[in-house]
Amino acid sequence: MPHVPRHFLSTLDWSRADLQRILDDARALKKRPHTGDLSGKGIALVFFNPSLRTRTSFELGAHHLGMKAIVLEPGKGAWPIEFDDDGVMDGEPEEHIREVARVLSRYVDAIAVRAFPKFQDWQVDRQDKVIEAFARFATVPVINMETITHPCQELALMLALQDRLVTTDRKKFVLTWTYHPKPLNTAVANSGLVIAAKFGFDVTLLCPTKDYVLDERYMKAAERFCQDNGAKLTMSHDIESAYDGADVVYAKSWGALPFFGRWADEKPIRDAHKHFIVDEAKMNRTNNGLFSHCLPVRRGVKVTSGVLDSPRSVHIDEAENRLHVQKALMRQLIS
Ligand code: CP
Repeated sequence: MPHVPRHFLSTLDWSRADLQRILDDARALKKRPHTGDLSGKGIALVFFNPSLRTRTSFELGAHHLGMKAIVLEPGKGAWPIEFDDDGVMDGEPEEHIREVARVLSRYVDAIAVRAFPKFQDWQVDRQDKVIEAFARFATVPVINMETITHPCQELALMLALQDRLVTTDRKKFVLTWTYHPKPLNTAVANSGLVIAAKFGFDVTLLCPTKDYVLDERYMKAAERFCQDNGAKLTMSHDIESAYDGADVVYAKSWGALPFFGRWADEKPIRDAHKHFIVDEAKMNRTNNGLFSHCLPVRRGVKVTSGVLDSPRSVHIDEAENRLHVQKALMRQLIS
């Protein structure tokens, strides 16, 4: 029996077969939502950032399984938490992650965490200190609800694609950067890249300039997964050739890593690439390709309404799937 990780912090250390088992269970849960098989169990949902889909789908999913979900917002209804380990807590936080994670572990059977990067220094943010600290001190499984990756979103996307494609192996998956007025988290881009590579797609990363290439941790992992599957990873700045023959177009905006903390310097580059919007003309170059986005999405900025409202867009299915895959994940980790 292969080793299944205790936490779900990232899919990098989960095998394709183990992830597929979760997807298969999610598909079964879609048909039979109310199992009640985790009756009496509890999960803490710790949100450092806002959410619509993640909070709703985790709370409702826990209810379907017979569990109780408790939402905690540190600094807003729950005490602010200290993560530094220098021993002197003379700032704003009232308690340390060493107490928070261990106390919650006495109450609940899993802890899920959303903690976005601070967007000041990528070398600090890429250490993912908040969720790594929860995982270090908790004695129950820890689930990533989006930090510098968004692994629950990966599962939801893959379930939506598997439901519409005969196979994902050697199909063309294009992850395209899109314009957004603000520099956003690279989490979903990192996640889209690695999950597509893990599930056998030929992956194209389309972005305006080399500044928008993702962190080497995810680029290298995607390259390795593609190699393992006999597929290829391509980096492109050319919109037309990237869209040509695509089976899937996945859109996301993100901030350029070399400009972390210097966003005013990035703005002119970002503003010069508004034409990366996903529109009907670009989708017409694809192989009748599917479109998706993790949401929330700005219509007419990242993608046209025509694309979002077309029958080839699976973004609502992907959002629905968050419910099913997270239930399957809780069953896997808690039972
Ligand atoms: N996609 C996603 O995680 O949505 P929320 O930010 O609304 O949770």
